[in-house]
Amino acid sequence: METVQDLQGSSKRVLPIRSTEEIRQMLGTKPVNLDIIRDPAIYKQEQEKIFRKTWLKVATTWEVANPGDWKVKELAVCDASVIIARGKDGVIRAFHNVCTHRGNKVIPTTEFETFGHSRANVITCRFHGWVFGTNGDLRSVPMKEEFAEIDTKCLSLREIQCDVWEGFVFINFDKKPEQSLKEYLGGFGELFAGYPYAESTTAYRYSTVLDCNWKVALYAFSEGYHVPTIHAGSLPGFSGIEHTNYRILGPHASSAIYGGGMDTADSTQKFDTLLHSAATHKPHPEQLPGGINAEGRSDFQFELPSVFPNFIIHLASGCGYPGLSGSVAIRNVC
Ligand code: FES
Ligand SMILES: [Fe+2]
Repeated sequence: METVQDLQGSSKRVLPIRSTEEIRQMLGTKPVNLDIIRDPAIYKQEQEKIFRKTWLKVATTWEVANPGDWKVKELAVCDASVIIARGKDGVIRAFHNVCTHRGNKVIPTTEFETFGHSRANVITCRFHGWVFGTNGDLRSVPMKEEFAEIDTKCLSLREIQCDVWEGFVFINFDKKPEQSLKEYLGGFGELFAGYPYAESTTAYRYSTVLDCNWKVALYAFSEGYHVPTIHAGSLPGFSGIEHTNYRILGPHASSAIYGGGMDTADSTQKFDTLLHSAATHKPHPEQLPGGINAEGRSDFQFELPSVFPNFIIHLASGCGYPGLSGSVAIRNVC
């Protein structure tokens, strides 16, 4: 059970599903030591050993769909502000949002995510007007002749390792990451490849700041135990939940949520009608990656892939859950 199995013969691989009992044996059943969410020394280690070393999802390709599009992502956990920009050549790159002249924030931000577009494919620092291309190159320096010496080639925006999986843009602050993104996602990435994520253009977007350790938020979005109670208003009639089909690969994990009786509440009726009346929003179980709800159960609600450390997907194909019919919900923990 430790290895990735070839279930479909070809390059499509499916991770083994583990029972609750197997998971208990792997992870133990004793209470979790609270130090991992409250000890500042442990958090500091996580910042250095996890967030500055692993691949972090920071954007989607459809957020920066055209040359000149950019997004700035504030990553407080890494004490960094990151520009993700699509260059004139169509390539998506990531840079520190720090001017190479005097360290000013090149693109000012007020939100944890800021979006923009430059028709001229340039980013201009407001302090002294240095102009960078969306590929990071330093294009022009006002009063350049006044500098005794200036090597513009060495003054490009500082690039961050960046790669894309299934339309999701990841960065890695490590200059030489131990693993490529492909290696990091491994069989997990193969299992969840192929779903038309890019067609799930955002219907609704929200963000919130939680005053908690990052893992507290991660745990809350990784379980279905709370659904019958805290979602009773939006999912009336929900009769119970089955959280099963656990898969673990390295730091990544997934599981499936089954359950019947998720009726539409008055508050979500309009949204439900909209989803079920348009062909594009109809459930498409055939589009789910192979091995997800392999039994074809009618009470399948969604699969919950979690890419460590900051990215969770709710992958659904329909059924009665009004908010998720034929959709994908994307959550960034930080
Ligand atoms: S700090 Fe950016 S141009 Fe001077
Ligand atoms: Fe929930």
